[in-house]
Amino acid sequence: MILMDDIIREGHPTLRTKAEEVKFPLSDETRQLAEDMLQYLINSQDPEMAEKYNLRSGIGLAANQVNSLQRMFALHLQDDAGEQLSFVAINPKIVSHSVENTYLSAGEGCLSVDRNVPGYVPRHARITVKFKTIDGEEKKMRLKGLSAIAFQHELDHLNGIMFYDRINEKNPFADIPESIPYERD
Ligand code: NI
Repeated sequence: MILMDDIIREGHPTLRTKAEEVKFPLSDETRQLAEDMLQYLINSQDPEMAEKYNLRSGIGLAANQVNSLQRMFALHLQDDAGEQLSFVAINPKIVSHSVENTYLSAGEGCLSVDRNVPGYVPRHARITVKFKTIDGEEKKMRLKGLSAIAFQHELDHLNGIMFYDRINEKNPFADIPESIPYERD
C-alpha cells in the first residue's frame, strides 16, 4: 500500500528525470505498482481511509512520484459528465489536441508539492490520447475538462516536468491565449 511517505517531493531528482517505456507483458512488480498507484488515489478520496492513513487527496499519480522511472500513471476522478474515470495509463501519448486552451482557475496542485503555487497552468482544452492498460489492451480516448487537464499534468511528470514550470514567471495570472478557464467545484 502506498502512503504519503512513499511519495517523493519536489527537489528529488526522479521528478526531473524522463521515465522509460514500459514493456509488455508487465512484470509482477510493475503490475503491483500500477495497481497500488490507482489504489492510493481511491483510498485518498475515501474520507475514512484518508483519515486513517493520513493520505492527501489526489486525482492523479505518476510513477515518478513513487520514485519509479516507468511511463505510467493512475487517474481517478469524475469527468465533466459526472462519470467516474479510473485507470492506469501505460506508455501514454497525446495523439491530437484542440487549438483551444484551458486552465484551472484555482491553479494546480500536486502530491509531490507541499505548498501552494499560485498561477495559471496552460493546458489543451481537449485531447485525444492513446495508452495501454495494465492488461496490455490498447485504449484510445477523447478527454476534456478536468480529465484532460489531469492527463496532461501526469504526462508531464513522466517527462520530468512540474506543473509550475508552465506558469508565467513574470505574471502568473496573465491571460492564457485562446482559453476558457475551468472552474472546479
Ligand atoms: Ni503532480
